[in-house]
Amino acid sequence: TVKAVIFDLDGVLVDTAVYHFQAWHRLAEGLGYSFSLVDNEQLKGVSRIESLELILKWAGAKISDAEKADLLSLKNKWYLELIEQLSPDHLLSGSLDLLEKLQKKGIKIALGSASKNAMGILEKTGIISYFDALIDGNVVQLSKPNPAVFLKGAEALGIEPACCLVLEDAQAGIDAARAAGMQVIGIGQAEHLNGADLVVADLGALVDKF
Ligand code: BG6
Ligand code: MG
Repeated sequence: TVKAVIFDLDGVLVDTAVYHFQAWHRLAEGLGYSFSLVDNEQLKGVSRIESLELILKWAGAKISDAEKADLLSLKNKWYLELIEQLSPDHLLSGSLDLLEKLQKKGIKIALGSASKNAMGILEKTGIISYFDALIDGNVVQLSKPNPAVFLKGAEALGIEPACCLVLEDAQAGIDAARAAGMQVIGIGQAEHLNGADLVVADLGALVDKF
């Protein structure tokens, strides 16, 4: 039985994945690399620094640690500009209905996100009060597919991993949930979500399951 649901943020609850793509695309362009949607799929769920390392590798670019730090703040500056107008309108289909339903049923709710911008996004979209535990990229440095972000969530809720269900839109996140010994439902297209117990198009499809 499921006693807790741990939500990924970007691309699951909120429509921000597209803005990460746009900011990385702009950055890659500056390196002379044409960043594709296929490339982007590999960055989903992955931390900011590890994403940059991958793009530098694909671009064949060797730069200093100081230059890396500059690129990281530039990417985040562009990303923050893109999400400045974020509002409850950017919640993905079914987000509010599912959060409401889980709360009503007494199922614990946690966030398990790699993003260091997670708190601001939850506030702008008005859903922060639904969460019993908040684990983000400031709390956990180890990037998905490492299970740390989900294990910390379970620990904070006081629920054993086997009774936690993770909702994820990224392959790295599915792998992290599996490594944590949790159940996992993929949100999106099955071809990008190998190893999920189930894949649905959006959170709305899950409301009646609880
Ligand atoms: C994940 C996104 O949720 O957070 C990644 O899927 C992103 O695309 C990562 O790189 C880190 O986010 P941020 O906001 O700390 O740069
Ligand atoms: Mg995601």
